Formats: sequence, structure tokens, C-alpha cells
Amino acid sequence: MKKELRKAVIAGNWKMNNTPAQTTALINEMKPLVADADCEVVLCVPYIDIPAAVEAAKGSNIKIGAENVHFKASGAYTGEVSTDMLKEAGVEYVVIGHSERRTYFGETDQTVNLRSLAALNAGLKAIICVGETLEQRELGYTETLLKFQTKMALTNVKPEQLKNVIIAYEPVWAIGTGVTATADQADEGNGFVREAIAEAYGAELAETVTVQYGGSMNAKNADELVAKVNVDGGLIGGASLKAQDFSVIVKAASK
Ligand code: 13P
Repeated sequence: MKKELRKAVIAGNWKMNNTPAQTTALINEMKPLVADADCEVVLCVPYIDIPAAVEAAKGSNIKIGAENVHFKASGAYTGEVSTDMLKEAGVEYVVIGHSERRTYFGETDQTVNLRSLAALNAGLKAIICVGETLEQRELGYTETLLKFQTKMALTNVKPEQLKNVIIAYEPVWAIGTGVTATADQADEGNGFVREAIAEAYGAELAETVTVQYGGSMNAKNADELVAKVNVDGGLIGGASLKAQDFSVIVKAASK
């Protein structure tokens, strides 16, 4: 982390977990544990849990995010949710382009870009996910791919909108597998992302953008990961479903 230059953000991505009642219980358990955080604390939750999450987080330092958003303002898009709907519900952050959406739901670099633009133009903070598969890594394409995904996601994003952009480097092979990237691999991947931003917007602005690491980040390895200069926090899956574990990660990023 380089806190003098950019914000450290620990965000939970609950994926398809927790009912509204479970949401209320878990956030109530987390609130006192993260109350003294010296980093941004965010929970990205399923759409149906958003009202319960916003209500439970009221008056605390926990911000609520969604896990996706559609790029059109309204219309015949069955099953989709718009930026206005999220904002009115009290959402501040939105995860875009998670590898699970890219793998299972046909998300492409083009739709990631459209969703990012819609979120940013609506004043939401976008947590945009990029990451290589194991095959791509073994073929030597990690840098090329991370830079391509980052630049594609940010196409037509204005320099002044970068303050609302977070890029999460999530190596696909590390997600939900228990195989964490080493701290050096995380730092290198995040560094490629920052280089891509520098190539598009200049080095000075690139230094101000929060780049998270995600992929089996947990209470045990968080310290080592966030100690790296390019790791400005994390996007946490499994460990964000346990109040104690999540709070240990928040504490690591608060140092
Ligand atoms: P895990 O922390 O469960 O590996 O998930 C990471 C992730 O995909 C966060 O978006």
C-alpha cells in the first residue's frame, strides 16, 4: 500500500451467499469489529440483500456495493438492474467484470467497459476485475492480458473519473481455490495494471488509483499481501463471509 498516494480499500464480495436475514446478522456482527478501520470497508452483496445491508450498515463505516449493474438506464432487459435503482437503494460501489461473470454469464471486455461507463457516469464507484487464467499465465500472457483488460475496461473513462475507479487484480487460478498468488506475484500483477493505467493516463494519475488483489486472500496472508507497494487492499470472497476473518483483513490494511 502507498496510503499517502491512494486509498486502501478492503471489499467483501459475497457472491451468491446470504439471505436478507443472514445479511442483517452478519453485518451486525462485523460492525464493531471494523469500526476503527483506517481503510475503506465495503461489502458487495446480492441485489436482494441490498436493502437489509444498507439498513444494517447505517451509522457505521461499512459501505455497501452491488455485484453487477446493467449498462442501460432502463427498458426491456429482463433480470437486470440499473444504476438509478442501485443508487436509490443506497449503493455506493459496484463490482464489474468479475471472472465468474466472464466465465459463466458471457461477460466480455466490451460489456465490462459499458457497465463501467454506466456506473461511473452515475457517480458510483466501480470495482473492475481483471485477471489471467492459469493457461494464459503458463503461456506467458499475464502482462499482455492484464494490460489489455485494464485498457479495454477504461475505454472512454475520463481522467477525472479515475478517482472512482478501483481495479481488482484477481488471477482466475487463485479464486476460491485456496491457492493464493504469492505476495510478489500479486505485486507484479497489480504493477502491470498500474502500468496500463499509466500508459493510458500518465504515470502521475496512475499512482493515485487503488489497485486491489483478490483470490484466496484471508486472515493469514493479508498482512504480507498489503505490505506490497502496489497492493492497495483486497477483494475478498470466502473470508468476507466470516466476521472475524474479514475484520483481521481490515486490520491488516489499517496499519
Ligand atoms: P476468494 O477470496 O473466495 O478466493 O474469492 C475471491 C474473489 O473472487 C473476490 O471477488
